[in-house]
Amino acid sequence: MDVYEAVTSRRSVRGFTDQPVSRDVLERVLSAAAWAPSGSNLQPWHVYVVTGETLAYLKKAATERVAAGEPWDEREYVMYPPALHSPYRERRASFGRERYSALGVAREDWEARARAAIANWDCFGAPAALFCYVDRELGLPQWSDLGMYLQSVMLLLRAEGLHSCPQMAWSQVRTTVADVLSPPPELVLFCGMSIGYEDPAATYVRTGREPLETTVTFVDPWWSTTDGAAV
Ligand SMILES: Cc1cc2nc3c(=O)[nH]c(=O)nc-3n(C[C@H](O)[C@H](O)[C@H](O)COP(=O)(O)O)c2cc1C
Repeated sequence: MDVYEAVTSRRSVRGFTDQPVSRDVLERVLSAAAWAPSGSNLQPWHVYVVTGETLAYLKKAATERVAAGEPWDEREYVMYPPALHSPYRERRASFGRERYSALGVAREDWEARARAAIANWDCFGAPAALFCYVDRELGLPQWSDLGMYLQSVMLLLRAEGLHSCPQMAWSQVRTTVADVLSPPPELVLFCGMSIGYEDPAATYVRTGREPLETTVTFVDPWWSTTDGAAV
């Protein structure tokens, strides 16, 4: 699989089979992902790999907690600004439409939406998950480093025939995660990531993307004339 195919075939999969993911594969992927860049090579990622009975226990504890309507944990970082302005508000709305139409759920059917959301804490059935932490003393550039690392992980998973779903949802129940993983107090849980083989029966709508010119500006070289000839 070439890099283009890895990038374009990666998507957030929300339905996995229970086929286990071998430790060898996970070690291979995480060893290669460690080559991700980071400012001054800080490598600010702290990752816990959870599978088997431990993951089953964590999924059950988190799902039961959410199903019981317990309040979310106090946030350690802001997930989204409280008032998302345009164009982000519209993009979020269209993501919601895509997500719920794939499930055949009406936008105003809050119960069905809550049922769909709760699958987050079952890792959408995935047999493996990562929990990705960053040191609370570190700043925005290091969080960005973590993002590059996580994308590297997700692309490498594609090369192994695996799929993934990054999940900030896990940060909403971070204390339940901490009860199982006992991370040192200096770490903040950024997200979880479900990993596994896609369940071909799971329905989805591929999320769209803005046209290139909306997010990318090619700056003409200041020395070229309008017909492209150098001056
Ligand atoms: C940091 C991060 C956190 C995310 N958290 C969740 C989540 O909690 N639950 C979920 O179902 N999807 C989550 N997603 C997936 C996004 O909804 C998804 O990436 C986006 O809609 C684009 O779709 P695609 O990944 O299928 O291309 C998250 C993605 C990122 C990058």
